[in-house]
Amino acid sequence: MPALPSLSLVPLQMPRTGTLVVLAGADAATAASLPEAVRSHVARAGSAYKFKGKSLAVMDLLAPEGIGPDRILVIGLDADKPLAEEDWLKLGGAVAGRVKGAGAVTVWLDRAAGSVGAAEAAWFAQGLQMRSYSFDAYKSVKSEDESDAQADSVSLALADPEAARGHLATAAAVADGVALARDLVNEPANVLGPVEFADRLTELSKQGVEVEVLTEAEMRALGMNALLGVAQGSPRPPRLVVMRWNGAEGDAAPVAFIGKGVVFDTGGVSIKPAAGMEDMKGDMGGAAAVSGLMLALAGRKAKVNAIGIVGLVENAVDGNAQRPGDIVKAMSGTTIEVNNTDAEGRLVLADALWYCQDRFKPRFMINLATLTGAIIVALGNHHAGLFSNDDELSERLAAAGRVTGEKVWRMPLGPEYDKLIEGKFADIKNVGAGRAAGSITAAQFLQRFVNTVAWAHLDIAGTAMGSPANEYNQSWGSGFGVRLLDRLVTDHYETR
Ligand code: BES
Ligand code: MN
Ligand code: ZN
Repeated sequence: MPALPSLSLVPLQMPRTGTLVVLAGADAATAASLPEAVRSHVARAGSAYKFKGKSLAVMDLLAPEGIGPDRILVIGLDADKPLAEEDWLKLGGAVAGRVKGAGAVTVWLDRAAGSVGAAEAAWFAQGLQMRSYSFDAYKSVKSEDESDAQADSVSLALADPEAARGHLATAAAVADGVALARDLVNEPANVLGPVEFADRLTELSKQGVEVEVLTEAEMRALGMNALLGVAQGSPRPPRLVVMRWNGAEGDAAPVAFIGKGVVFDTGGVSIKPAAGMEDMKGDMGGAAAVSGLMLALAGRKAKVNAIGIVGLVENAVDGNAQRPGDIVKAMSGTTIEVNNTDAEGRLVLADALWYCQDRFKPRFMINLATLTGAIIVALGNHHAGLFSNDDELSERLAAAGRVTGEKVWRMPLGPEYDKLIEGKFADIKNVGAGRAAGSITAAQFLQRFVNTVAWAHLDIAGTAMGSPANEYNQSWGSGFGVRLLDRLVTDHYETR
């Protein structure tokens, strides 16, 4: 990772040099706190260049002599409509994209329409931090704006900088979680196998996360044969990692997050076609999101007890690999006909979900998985599929999605769909009939391993990786899910 810009909070005072970033509303109206020389210069440029202050529109100006900074970057605010959390992320991201390599940057966080509060400043900073992420460890020659030769320093100038300090630290902890999730998804599978993934998570103990790693032998003793069947075609052994963040006072029942961690999905004997198979290094996007979330919760000292569990396997193919038609007995006792070895994620999650609910009796379980290509057919790259047995949890997730921009869309479950996975030789089979309702039958399969606990499944195949770049994400691995679930916890599950 190249050096991220260093962020500091300062009062509203004109810098003596560098780049000044100014927020502008309709007709380039700027904050009254700015020196008159700056305001009139921006207003004049606005009318000369027909700058209307539309959202994220930019004017990059040479500053008039004698005012301090050399450059004034004006960015539009769309002042008429109230700015929501994601708007501030986009603003921060757009600014970061424009000032890379600029050196000293001062962002004047004040506007004609009223001052900028602590939470808003923190969202802006989070967008800036997320946009500054890049994954270029394997590039021998770095592109100029990715070079870390000149680390930028960004000062956020605010009417009340002290009030924003705590918010900024919280937002930065969450952005760190997003960066971890992105790193894990972007990392190639030759570097990041199940053992290496588990080793990286062991590092989270430095942040106060308790980390426990189950080996193959331990999983065998627990009867996790669904997960182990997937792993058996790879020389690289599987791992199950249990992370615990105990931030609540007392021993309240934990909230639990479970992630699919297939470090590479060849499809197994039901092998995938070659085209695009390289993307399957990202088939651990669910596990990455859970890992990033745990880092975020610990980093911001969330007042919650949280469990993160990731099932780490490689779905490879060798002479020992699982065959179509094989029957395995999951930890729950359910027998499964593995009719398609490429429907492996649900086998991994079956044992991880059962283990989680059995051992921790959580308040709810939310699993994340790059589970089906079918969810991309249904929802594209802009919503994750949400499947749940609980209306309240679903509503809360949908609301968290709307504010963070990590949107989810609820899909149905039901007995008609459950019937499609009835087994011929065993209790259930791991694929439905044909391509119909592929994401739903996958969710029905997972639900077979959930008893009465509130549960939600997020199918993030379309959102965890390869989704279109935006103002605050230019990375292939998006880190989807970290901010969504952090927001869910913040809004509903922390003790005050
Ligand atoms: N990891 C894939 C799903 C996937 C596809 C994720 C594209 C991201 C992008 C999953 O293991 C899989 O192969 N699912 C199959 C299920 C089928 C065999 C029932 C699929 O979607 O084709
Ligand atoms: Mn697969
Ligand atoms: Zn997969």
